[in-house]
Amino acid sequence: MKFLKVRTYIISTLIIAVFLLLSAFDFTANEFTGYKYVGVTKCVGACHKTESQGRQFEIWKNSEHANAWETLGTEEADKIAREKGFNPPATDVPECVRCHVLGKIINPEELRNTFDKTEGVQCESCHGPGSDYMKMSIMKDSPKSIENGLLVYEHYEELCIKCHNEESPTFKGFEFDSYWSKISHQKP
Ligand code: HEC
Ligand code: HEC
Ligand code: HEC
Repeated sequence: MKFLKVRTYIISTLIIAVFLLLSAFDFTANEFTGYKYVGVTKCVGACHKTESQGRQFEIWKNSEHANAWETLGTEEADKIAREKGFNPPATDVPECVRCHVLGKIINPEELRNTFDKTEGVQCESCHGPGSDYMKMSIMKDSPKSIENGLLVYEHYEELCIKCHNEESPTFKGFEFDSYWSKISHQKP
């Protein structure tokens, strides 16, 4: 009898632990941070387009990332969505929009009205929602920016493979060096 009670106790503790663990994972999966996405036009402003800053805007605008929404608007995209069992248009399917905009399901509460999803995969899709780090005084101070939501990566590849993976219906493989060289936009 006593043995049974101990066992029940252990089992229920385990169940609770697993449940807590799962809800913690679920939380990170949604990544609701309280910071808001402001959109590429707000990021670029007067700064990230000059030669001395590294022309980030031009490099991004000429990349496929800036076309990611248009790509979803094509007949080919609707066909892929249908084959995957979704109801086209693909631009209305959250599972398609996920990788073609933010890298996660869009939560309208996280968007400022300046954010335009039709700009596709934009600065904040990779650098994190900018509402709190976009201020010049913060942006100039790297640790402060990170405290205010700027994401940095030790290995950039971790970021890329959030979207460049087998869950993409058209996945063609991902080779970091050659892909990064197409979009690299560091400060000179
Ligand atoms: C596909 C992901 C991605 C997109 C889109 C993107 N970036 Fe980046 N960006 C990176 C990565 C990765 C780095 C290098 C690592 C780092 O500094 O965190 C970087 C570096 C930078 C740097 C240079 C930091 C330095 O000191 O050299 C700036 C500035 C920057 N990005 C601004 C922008 C702006 C502005 C946009 C939009 C116009 C943009 N990025 C779009 C991923 C991205
Ligand atoms: C938020 C999701 C997302 C992230 C994060 C992301 N990408 Fe992409 N990337 C896409 C999508 C979607 C496309 C396809 C756009 C299209 O074809 O319209 C794409 C296309 C590309 C292309 C063009 C490929 C081609 O067929 O020519 C390159 C290069 C690229 N990404 C590099 C990177 C690198 C390097 C990183 C990491 C630093 C990265 N991407 C991170 C979503 C993402
Ligand atoms: C896991 C992230 C991810 C998801 C989910 C996703 N895509 Fe993509 N999509 C990408 C990436 C990355 C590319 C760039 C090519 C590649 O490597 O797959 C891309 C490219 C495309 C292309 C261009 C094809 C080409 O050869 O360049 C189309 C069309 C497309 N996606 C449609 C869709 C549709 C429709 C859905 C929903 C059923 C969807 N995608 C869901 C990441 C994703």
